[in-house]
Amino acid sequence: MIPSTEDIEGFPRLLHGADYNYEQWLDFPQILDDDLALMREAEINVLSVGIFSWSMIEREEGIFHFDWLDGCFEQLYKNKQKIILATPSGSKPAWLSEKYPEVSQMTVNGTRQPHGGRQNHCRTSPEYRKACTRINTALAKRYGTHPALILWHVSNEYNGMPCYCPWCLTAFRAWLEKRYVTIDALNAAWYTTFWSHRFSSWEQIYPADSSIHALMLDWQRFTSDQTIDFFLAECEPLRRITPDIPVTTNFHGPDVGLDYHKFAQYVDVISWDSYPEWHKTPDDEDAAVKAGFLYDMQRSFLGKPFLLMESSPGAVNWQGVSKKKRKGMHILSSLQAVAHGSDSVQYFQWRQSRGGTEKFHDAVVTHFNTNDTRIFHEVAKTGSILKRLASITGTNKESQAAVVYDFQSNWVLDNAQLPRNVGKNYQKECISHYSAFWKAGISCDVIGAEHSDFSKYRILVLPMLYMLREETAEKIRRFTDNGGVVVSGFLAALVNENDLCYQGGTPGGLTDVFGISVEETETIADYESLIFSMNGQKQKAFHYADHIRVLGAQVLGSFDESENGLPAVTVCKYGKGAAYYICTRTEQEFKDQFFRDLCAQYSVNPSVPWNIPKGVSVQKRNEVVFIMNFNNNEVDIPIGKNEYINLPENASVCRTITLPPYGLIIVKLAR
Ligand code: GLA
Ligand code: ZN
Repeated sequence: MIPSTEDIEGFPRLLHGADYNYEQWLDFPQILDDDLALMREAEINVLSVGIFSWSMIEREEGIFHFDWLDGCFEQLYKNKQKIILATPSGSKPAWLSEKYPEVSQMTVNGTRQPHGGRQNHCRTSPEYRKACTRINTALAKRYGTHPALILWHVSNEYNGMPCYCPWCLTAFRAWLEKRYVTIDALNAAWYTTFWSHRFSSWEQIYPADSSIHALMLDWQRFTSDQTIDFFLAECEPLRRITPDIPVTTNFHGPDVGLDYHKFAQYVDVISWDSYPEWHKTPDDEDAAVKAGFLYDMQRSFLGKPFLLMESSPGAVNWQGVSKKKRKGMHILSSLQAVAHGSDSVQYFQWRQSRGGTEKFHDAVVTHFNTNDTRIFHEVAKTGSILKRLASITGTNKESQAAVVYDFQSNWVLDNAQLPRNVGKNYQKECISHYSAFWKAGISCDVIGAEHSDFSKYRILVLPMLYMLREETAEKIRRFTDNGGVVVSGFLAALVNENDLCYQGGTPGGLTDVFGISVEETETIADYESLIFSMNGQKQKAFHYADHIRVLGAQVLGSFDESENGLPAVTVCKYGKGAAYYICTRTEQEFKDQFFRDLCAQYSVNPSVPWNIPKGVSVQKRNEVVFIMNFNNNEVDIPIGKNEYINLPENASVCRTITLPPYGLIIVKLAR
């Protein structure tokens, strides 16, 4: 359950907040005092505290110092702020690494990582789990009934960095034994006769042999599962002692070695750390599309609103060139998250650190140390807009289209040695399909292959779905049979869930649904492109081109003579639905047109009936329409009949809206 604003006495609105590293300022009481006034001024109603505070709370084993954290709770509570309390496992205290070396990860060569950094603990180590349980229990007992507490923030940005310590290897072998039961079954699934890699005992298995793809896949699966298991172990005391306080952990990346679709099943509220690379190129449309894709993924994980747990109020300091946000961009990018389903706008961080690696990462209060800064003004303005958008809290978005993004398929595709290995670009390919919907103003979910229900969609898009589980193939078959429209990209379903190639033509298990069978895949070099024609227009094909044999599909587009007129785009009626196949990487403009036409044909309508100019995103959340200009120039948007009101300003809107560079307007149907 999201801590809805109704639950937050005195705060009937969206959350607006920041990571508050209070413990960095304990020696400066004046600063802590100033913070309270500044927070009120910026309309901050929630703070995430304690994220990196282990060494301040438990200064030696079992000895807790809660006085300062008590003070933080009391101050914020009196200031009418709510608290998201973190468990501190993201970064361990030195005494713990010193006393129990096993808590630090081991590299593939068996060397122990030195103490330091963060999120580099072993997830299997019994001592680490014991230490986390001890401190999480203490936190839950001390603050579980505090009226300011609304949510647990478990750890910070877990990742899928593997640990090769004896504990992890033993757990991996047990995980394998549970999955395969016998070593013979494992040998068969892993195809270990290849290069003489048969195993005769579980103990022989060491997860560092990239020549056995299924071994590497299972190692990645195990590492992801072990992270989820570690998270659940951290949650155990929290859920037991404070059953009414929901639990989140902040996702990031998203390709950090975790299967987030699976992970999401275990959290109460999804939260996401968003750091788009604004102004990295002259045109911000691609960054905006990618941010939208990732927000829609967060919303789709559980099919409900999420929290924007972190974002930078200015520049970050870890990109090659981290740009400051241009005028308007802060409010625009913050409200973009809300438009896609976030119930909060939160920042890393409230006050800029004076030391350490993040001292030049922007924060709401910078080293300039006043409220009179550009960043502070924009944050305060964001706070006042969020306040006026209260009614949107908890509302969802409806999508009739979905793009499938499969983390595990990406892992196997990454490991695969294909005739063309450079520029596989799975994530980019998925985003470029999604982009066609974004530009058309058509709401689109971003879902998983394994844990998502396909049946609620009209159009299902499967870009480069290289690994296809047999159950997913069945789901796609049922979806199409029942009237769904499925669109597959190239390199579809080459391997099954053990990374074994399908025999007898691809897409494996679905050749009858698509009415085609792929015989082989052409490799296209970077200096060349192939040409196919569709609807009388010539189109370019890049990188990969599947050679299709038609089994019953209708050919919609074909290659020219150099490719013997082979089919490029096909459609097959299957049951009450239709299955399209696009056998190659196309230009963006092709996808934009293809999906626009497809949506029109199958009555998947845009949120609004107006023409949406380039670089402008229109997102509808419940009754509220967000019109967002990601261009660095003014745009006019003819919205036709004047039936909208401008929500934050409560004024009516004209027939044409003029948006300044990086401007947005939020409107609602007047009726
Ligand atoms: C991540 C972390 C934060 C901080 C920011 C900086 O998202 O969770 O602690 O380091 O990056 O951008
Ligand atoms: Zn380990």
